[in-house]
Formats: sequence, structure tokens, C-alpha cells
Amino acid sequence: MVEVAVVDAQERRGVLERRRTERERLGRRSVGRERYEDGSRGGDDEGKGVPRRHVSARAFDPPRSKADLDPSPFPAPAIRRRDVEVVKEPDELEMIEELARFGINAGDIKKAKEAGYHTAKSIVMIPKKALYSVRGLSEAKVDKMVEAASKLVKCGFITGTEALQKRKQIFKITSGSKAVDDLLGGGIETQSITECFGEYRSGKTQLSHTLAVTTQLEVSQGGGFGKVAVIDTEGAFRPENVIPIAQRYGLDPERVLDNIVTAKAYNTDHQMELVDHVGALCATQPFRLLIIDSLTALFRSDYSGRGELAERQQKLNQMMSKIKRLADQYNVAVFVTNQVMADPGGGSVFVQDAKKPIGGHILAHASSVRLSLRKGKGESRIIKVIQHPNMPEADATFDISNQGIADSND
Ligand SMILES: Nc1ncnc2c1ncn2[C@@H]1O[C@H](COP(=O)(O)OP(=O)(O)OP(=O)(O)O)[C@@H](O)[C@H]1O
Ligand SMILES: [Mg+2]
Repeated sequence: MVEVAVVDAQERRGVLERRRTERERLGRRSVGRERYEDGSRGGDDEGKGVPRRHVSARAFDPPRSKADLDPSPFPAPAIRRRDVEVVKEPDELEMIEELARFGINAGDIKKAKEAGYHTAKSIVMIPKKALYSVRGLSEAKVDKMVEAASKLVKCGFITGTEALQKRKQIFKITSGSKAVDDLLGGGIETQSITECFGEYRSGKTQLSHTLAVTTQLEVSQGGGFGKVAVIDTEGAFRPENVIPIAQRYGLDPERVLDNIVTAKAYNTDHQMELVDHVGALCATQPFRLLIIDSLTALFRSDYSGRGELAERQQKLNQMMSKIKRLADQYNVAVFVTNQVMADPGGGSVFVQDAKKPIGGHILAHASSVRLSLRKGKGESRIIKVIQHPNMPEADATFDISNQGIADSND
């Protein structure tokens, strides 16, 4: 028995030694083994949570507070210290280049990358049939690639304790209103899709603008200490509207805007491509929020014919799967807005002009959290939780102003 143990130990030392040499040969740095208190990965060259792994130290330029900026009439959000622990690296962000260690050739890795797969996990998560359609990748090559990726990424069963540990990596991003945050159990969550629907001028875009700023706050202030991507389908994103919101939080507006990337989508195919592009950005930079405002507008116009409904729903489903994978893989919050349409059959004698969100069951199933917005008195709005994995259905009132979403004065 003793002898066997010694041999095992020697063999293990040999394996470790070979791995070390291999790592050095590939120039792989042994960073990213730990997470910081704020949940971000990698080292801390300049300040708390500046990710070192795959990212230059300047990738996220935190919009530090500036006391000399305009004083805000709004009280700062209540500080919620989250119990974020140092979590062992889950090997989820192994870049696709790592597959070279398992004999996948550089040309094939490049082809997969060009098709939008940047990490080993993205290879494991996507159905094989999607990889078969990547130009230049034969079925045999795909099979080999998936097999290699599965060795790098833990994708089988995990214990409840490990699942809880993973949940602790989730950030809750403040909406700007304490009443709304309370409805949401703290704010909108990373690793999930929050859908917000409501009629015109109900505040969807202004809530998006607010989140684009609060995501950049430190975790202790209800932020995610990260960057924001905005896919804008209606030309509604207004950088000038972001400035007073940044000032409300005492942040440098210029830096806040530098940490937001935005692109206008022109059709549903383009919208899909832009989501892939965000995936590529998330693989290399600390993004914490993706906003799609509006998620459904282009689907409505691209597939307006009666006979096109099934095709539209299929495409919408693909879009939702894509953003769900992105949210999960990169610990990103996805906030999507949606319009409503008249629902002649949905009313009752009490509700005269019933409205329902676009997208039907596909959207209802894909979104973890569904919120409805409607107008109240003046600039006040009523938000209702329609669906939430761990919060009850309830509503709250908030105000809209040029400084974003805030608690109602009434
Ligand atoms: N910078 C601002 N200052 C004050 N009020 C604003 C500002 N921006 C928007 N609002 C108000 O917020 C309300 C909601 O606007 P918002 O654009 O968020 O609605 P929406 O739900 O996105 O509407 P739509 O469906 O038309 O896109 C409007 O009544 C508008 O007057
Ligand atoms: Mg809008």
C-alpha cells in the first residue's frame, strides 16, 4: 500500500512538472486563480477589482467619485454590502486558444473564433450542429474540439454547495430607486435576463440609462464595477442623458461614457451579430451589463406578415438563447426592453384596455425577471414584478427625472 502511495505521489509530481513546463511553453500566466471581494477576476495592479486576466489593467477605468462635481438633489442609494467571497476560479473563462493544449490546431481555433466562439465554455455550451455550420470545420474537427473543451470546462454536475458558491458571484445592480430595488431583492442580477415592458413613455429607456451608470458603481454602492454595452434598435440611447445621471452619483461623466459602448442595430440579423460582438468584448473586458432597447422592435418590423409569426418566434428564441448563454458565461446582467400590444381577449370588466408584451411564451420563458411599467401621476411611474425567481408579485412607484430613476416624492 505504502509503495503504491509513493509511486502515486511520484507520478503526480511528474504530471505537475509536465503541466508546469507546458504552461511555460504556452506562456500561460497563472493568474485568475482568485476572485476579488467584488467578484471580479484576476489581479489587482492598480486598485480593487481591476481584472488582470485577458484584460489590460486599463480596460475598466473606474469613474471614481469627484466631490467637486455637481451636488445631487437625490440621496445616494442605500449602501448594501454583499457577502461576496473569494471564489476559486471555475475555469469558465478559459480562452479558446487553450484548446491548442489538446491538439486542436491554430487554424481551426481561428475559424471558431471568427464565428463568435471565444472561450472553451462557449464551445461546450453551443449545440454541436451550430458548430458544424462554421465554415471550414468538419464534423470530425468539431467533435474533437468539443471533446477538448469539455476537458477544460467543468460542465457536469456540481454539488449544492458549489451552486451556492456560484450564486455568490452574482452582482445586484441598483435601479436608482430603493423602492424598486426592494421589489427586485436588491437590483437587477447578473447571470440573468431582466425584461421590462410597458407602453410608450413609461420609462423603459430612462431606466436603461440609469442602469448604464449604476453598473459602474462599486459593488458596495450597489454597482457591478464594470462596463456596459448598449444595443440600440430605436435610436433611443442618448449619451447626453447619461451625464446628469453620472453627476447624481458623483461620477466623472466622461469616464462613465467611456465605459459604455453602444451600437445601433438595423435589422434582426444585425442585432444577432451585435450580440455576438458583445460576447467577444465580454471575453476580454470586464462587462457587467448588456442593454437591448428594444429587444423586439426589429422583430416586429422584419417579420410583420401573418405567415411569418413562427419564423419570428424561432429567431427570437435563438436570440434569447444567445443572450442567456452570454449572461451565464460572463456573469453579465442583461436588461431588455419590450413593447406592449393591445390584448382584446385579455381584458375584463375591470381592465378596459388590456395590453400584453410582445414575444409571447418565448420571451416569458427566457426572461428570469419580467417587469411591467405604466404611467402614474405626472412623472411618476408604477413598476410591477410579473415574474421573479425568488420575489413575490408586487408593485412600487418611482419618479423619472433628468437624473434617472429615483424614489417617488409622494
Ligand atoms: N432627461 C429627461 N428628463 C426628464 N424627463 C425625462 C428625461 N428623459 C425621459 N424623460 C421622461 O421620461 C418618460 C419616459 O421616457 P422613456 O423614453 O424612458 O420611455 P420609454 O418607455 O422608453 O418609451 P418608448 O416606448 O417610447 O421608447 C417620458 O415621459 C419623458 O418625458
Ligand atoms: Mg424607449
